[in-house]
Amino acid sequence: MSKQDVAGNAEVPEAQAVSESEIAVHWKEEATIYPSPEFIGQANLTDPGMFERFSLENFPECYKEYADLLDWDQYWHTTLDTSDAPCWKWFVGGRINACYNCVDRHLPKYKNKAAIHFVPEPEDEPLYAITYQELYVRVNEFAALLRDFAGLKQGDRVTLHMPMVPELPVTMLACARLGVIHSEVFGGFSGQAAADRIADSGCRVLITVDGYHRAGKMINHKVNADVACEMAEKLGQTVDKVLIWQRYPGKSVSDTPMVEGRDFIVNDVLKKYAGKRIDPVSLPAEDPLFLMYTSGTTGKPKGCQHSIGGYMAYVAGTSKYIQDIHPEDVYWCMADIGWITGHSYIVYGPLALAASTVIYEGVPTYPDAGRAWRIAERLDVNIFHTAPTTIRMLRKAGPDEPKKYNYHFKHMTTVGEPIEPEVWKWYYEVVGKGEAIIVDTWWQTETGGFLCSTVPALHPMKPGSTGPALPGIHPVIYDEDGNELKAGSGKAGNICIRNPWPGAFQTIWGDRERYVDTYYAKYCKDPNSKDWRDWPYLTGDGAMLAADGYYRILGRIDDVINVAGHRLGTKELESAALTVEDIAEAAVVPVVDEIKGRVPDVYVSLKPGFDSDEEAKRKVVAAIETTIGKIARPKNVYIVPDMPKTRSGKIMRRVLAAISNTLDIGDVMTLANPDVVEDIRVLVQGKEKVATKKGPEDIERFGDD
Ligand code: PRX
Repeated sequence: MSKQDVAGNAEVPEAQAVSESEIAVHWKEEATIYPSPEFIGQANLTDPGMFERFSLENFPECYKEYADLLDWDQYWHTTLDTSDAPCWKWFVGGRINACYNCVDRHLPKYKNKAAIHFVPEPEDEPLYAITYQELYVRVNEFAALLRDFAGLKQGDRVTLHMPMVPELPVTMLACARLGVIHSEVFGGFSGQAAADRIADSGCRVLITVDGYHRAGKMINHKVNADVACEMAEKLGQTVDKVLIWQRYPGKSVSDTPMVEGRDFIVNDVLKKYAGKRIDPVSLPAEDPLFLMYTSGTTGKPKGCQHSIGGYMAYVAGTSKYIQDIHPEDVYWCMADIGWITGHSYIVYGPLALAASTVIYEGVPTYPDAGRAWRIAERLDVNIFHTAPTTIRMLRKAGPDEPKKYNYHFKHMTTVGEPIEPEVWKWYYEVVGKGEAIIVDTWWQTETGGFLCSTVPALHPMKPGSTGPALPGIHPVIYDEDGNELKAGSGKAGNICIRNPWPGAFQTIWGDRERYVDTYYAKYCKDPNSKDWRDWPYLTGDGAMLAADGYYRILGRIDDVINVAGHRLGTKELESAALTVEDIAEAAVVPVVDEIKGRVPDVYVSLKPGFDSDEEAKRKVVAAIETTIGKIARPKNVYIVPDMPKTRSGKIMRRVLAAISNTLDIGDVMTLANPDVVEDIRVLVQGKEKVATKKGPEDIERFGDD
C-alpha cells in the first residue's frame, strides 16, 4: 500500500524500513499480496465506505449495522449505556434469544441444510450431518431436560466439561434457549481445573461425556467429573447432578462407576423428553450468555462474562465480513469449542449466519499427515480456520500432503499467536494452493471477536502482520507513560482499544475490581468518568504499528505464556508446582518452541532435606498436569540450588528466561546472589557460552514489572 492508510482515507508516508533491533522481532516487513478478483467478486464486504460508517464520529450507533444481522424480540432504546463505566452495556432495552438466532430463524429457508458436520476421529466411523431441523429438535429436547429434570432456570450457571462432539453445541444452545449461563471448560483440562471453575461460578450441575477419541485412544472422560465434583465440594460448591452424554448412545465407553443419585446418562433421560418443544426465553440483551475462563497474572483464572445481544451482534458481523461466511459455505474451524475461538467462530458466529460448521473430534494429524486434507476434500470445505501451532505441525508432518487432495479453500484464517512469514507462506502457497486469501485475526477471550485483521476483499495481506483494525475498532499504542506511539515510529508499546465494542466482555464473574484493575486502570484518564473516551482497554499485548496502518502483535506483556495458542498463567503453573511438598520455590518462564511457539520451563528449588533427583521433577510435572492439564506440561524442570533474586527477594524470572532461551543474560551484579546465575546457566546450557544478543520481544521483556 502506498499513499493511503488502510481505511482508505488519510494520507500516510511511504512504509519506512524499521530495523530489527528497534522492534526486537525476528522477521522483516514483507511485501503485500492482493486478494484475487474471484474472491472479491463473491465477498460480503467490498465497500470501503464501511470504515467511514464505523468511524469514531459515528460511534456507537454504527454497531446497529451488526445488530441488524440478528432477529430481535424487541428493539433496544440505548445503543451504548456507559453509566456504569467501564462495565459497558450494549443494546439496552432490547430483548433477544441467541439460540433462536442460531437455529429457529433458519428453519423456513434452511431446515434441510447441514448445520453441523461431525467428523469422528476414527476414520472408519462414518461422519454425519445434523440439519438445522435436527439441531432444532435436539436443542429443544435437551433444553426441556435441563429445565424440567435438572431444574435449571434463567441466570443459573452450568459447567460443561466437554470435548469436540456435536453434543457440545447442542448443550450450549439449549442453555442459551433458557437463559442459563454456560461455562464450558476445555475438555483437555483436568478435573481439578474444572472444579476451580465450578466453584468460582457457583454451578450445581456439571455436563460432560463418558469418553472420546483422541490420537487413536479412547479417553475416559467421566473420571474427570468425579475429581471435579470431589474438589468442588472441598471448595464449598456441591454439584448435585452430573449429566453424562454417551459418545455412543446406549453404550458406555467409560468403566468409571456411576454415582447413584448424582450421575445421569443424558441419552437415557432424554427419552422422556422426546418431541418436547421449549419456547426460546426472550432475554434482556445485556444478560450474560456464557462465561469463558482464561488465565491472567495471578493463579486464579478469570471468568470472562459475555453478553447475549452485544456478543451475538459482534460475532455475526465479524463472521460475515471477516470470515466471509455465506449460508452456502462449508466452514471448518479446527480450534476447540472449549476456547473462545470455538464459541465465537465454530458455534455462535457461523450458526447465526446459517452456515454449515464442521466439528472434528480428534487430532489433525491422526492417523497421518493427510487427515485434515481428506476431511477438507470429503466435505468440500471452502473456509478453513486454524492456529499457527497447527499449521507448523501440519507442515512438519507432511509438507506436501495438501497437494494430494482435491479441495479448494477460498478463505483461510490464522489466529492465536504471531505467525512467522515462512509458515504463513507455506499456509498460503501449499494449504491454500495460492487460491485462498488469508486473514490473520488478532483478538482475545475477553474481546469476544476479532480486533485486528485485514478485511479480506479490501486489504492486501502482509505475512507476519495481523493487519489494520476492524471497522469500529480504534486501537492506540501507548508507551509506559501514556504517550501515543504513532504509525511508523518503529517503536513497540502497549496496544489498547480506545472505544468499547459490542463483543467485549462485560466483567470478570464476581470480581469487578479485578476487571477494572486489569483492563482499564493503567491508562484511565479519570476513574470517575462515565465517558468511554476516558477508559482505553488494555489488551496486555505488545504491538507496533507500521506506517501503512498494519499492526504487528509481539506477544504478551504480562505473566502469561501463549503455548500452542493457549493462554497459561505462569502463576498457575508455579502454584501447581508448589503443591509438591519437596518444593520451596518455583519460577516459570517461556521458552521458544519450533512448533508450539512458546512452552513453559519450570525452575524449582527444594526444601532442605529433600533430594534433587528425577523423582522430584516427575512430581512437579504430575502436579501441573493434575492441576491444569496436559497442555501445561513443562518442556523442562530444572532443580536449582537457589533462585536468582533481587536484594528485596524478588525472583528474577527475566534472568531465567534468558538462560532458557540462550539469550544474553545482561548485568546481574546487582542481584543478591549473582553467583548462582552462572551455576544455573551451566546446569541448563552446559559449560560453553553460546548466547545470542536479542530474543523475541515477549521473552526479552518477560518478568519486567
Ligand atoms: O497475545 C495475543 C495472542 O493470544 C492472546 C489471546 O489469547 P486467548 O484469550 O486465549 O485467545 C486466543 C484466540 C483469540 C492475545 O492477547 N494472539 C491472539 N491472536 C493473535 C495473537 N498474537 C498474534 N497474532 C494473532 N493473530
